[in-house]
Amino acid sequence: MSTLPPTLQQIDRTYVLAAGRRLSYFAGCDYFRQSSHPRIVHAVHTGLDKFGLSVSASRLTTGNHPLYTELENSVAKFFTAPTATLCSIGYTPNIIVAQALAGSFTHALMDERSHGSLIDAAQFLDCPIVKFRHRDPANLAEKLRRLPGCHPLIMTDGMFSHDGSAAPLREYLELLPAEGMILLDDAHAAGLLGAHGRGTLEHANVPRARIIQSITLSKAFGVYGGMILGDRKVRAAILARSRMFIGNTPLPLPLAQAALTSVRQLAAHPAPRQRLMKLAGQVKERLRQVGFPLPNHPGPIIPVIPKSSRETNRWKRALLAADILPPFIHYLGGPAEGYFRFVLSSEHTAEQIDNLVAVFAAQTRG
Ligand SMILES: Cc1ncc(COP(=O)(O)O)c(C=O)c1O
Repeated sequence: MSTLPPTLQQIDRTYVLAAGRRLSYFAGCDYFRQSSHPRIVHAVHTGLDKFGLSVSASRLTTGNHPLYTELENSVAKFFTAPTATLCSIGYTPNIIVAQALAGSFTHALMDERSHGSLIDAAQFLDCPIVKFRHRDPANLAEKLRRLPGCHPLIMTDGMFSHDGSAAPLREYLELLPAEGMILLDDAHAAGLLGAHGRGTLEHANVPRARIIQSITLSKAFGVYGGMILGDRKVRAAILARSRMFIGNTPLPLPLAQAALTSVRQLAAHPAPRQRLMKLAGQVKERLRQVGFPLPNHPGPIIPVIPKSSRETNRWKRALLAADILPPFIHYLGGPAEGYFRFVLSSEHTAEQIDNLVAVFAAQTRG
């Protein structure tokens, strides 16, 4: 797409204002609507009053405010990770890790549908990049067989944003040669998947010893910024070697305060996560029952890939007639002609869900 889509404004947590209409919003990544939670909004105000806006300096010079350490400690505790390192933008953790570990691997082996931030990060690793088939351990094994003695960094999303599928982490770990590591972009699963919301590692029930987990604070946590979860060696390498980390002003302080509140809130209140995961299972089952086939992926994401522009327009008309924003997107890695990406949240009402299912039922029949 060479132009931006029409503007829209989020209102009332599960609705948007678009072209003058109030429409149900089944899109975005604010799974628990933390971005509009009163406690988190309040934290932005108090953070601004208490701390001001910006430290206006790198953390390695004079910008190392105690709030950043408090946030990192609380994220490390949430994810049970040895260390968490704050990055000011959710796109940058993978790049920061790659700058920190440049020269440590003989090859980068990357899922062919990896997010752009992993693709960009790989350029900093100083080693050849080999792509393997999407979520395909057998193909990864084949690529590794052709690289005897390699020390690879396997790079993959944890939960894929286009369809809510999860990377087969356990299988990847079984294939990982000695001295290899996995860089897991867990932007979409962090705070969402697993019994405690710790992401794809918890979902797959694997240890974190050989995995660097990068996350964003902008999706399940509804705020902004990113984090790198890894061992002490990874953190030391970031502080010593990542130009992007060293030469950057950290997150504005009110956002750090909001992120801290959001992490604590999700840790103390698992109910929204449990509600959403249950809802996602129920909605997918209802859609299967009305004749819409869906694989059993863990994420609350339902992709619809139209076969023609006629079909696209038919869906758009039906959704608008039901007061639902057509979540039709063009996104890197997705189908070139665009597709509908429906995302459920813990805050949608039963009426909104029934309405959505009715559209699917009518479209599947028609
Ligand atoms: C897999 C993945 N990684 C990283 C990011 C970047 O996160 P942020 O939008 O918080 O910068 C995104 C955002 O869409 C993403 O989907």
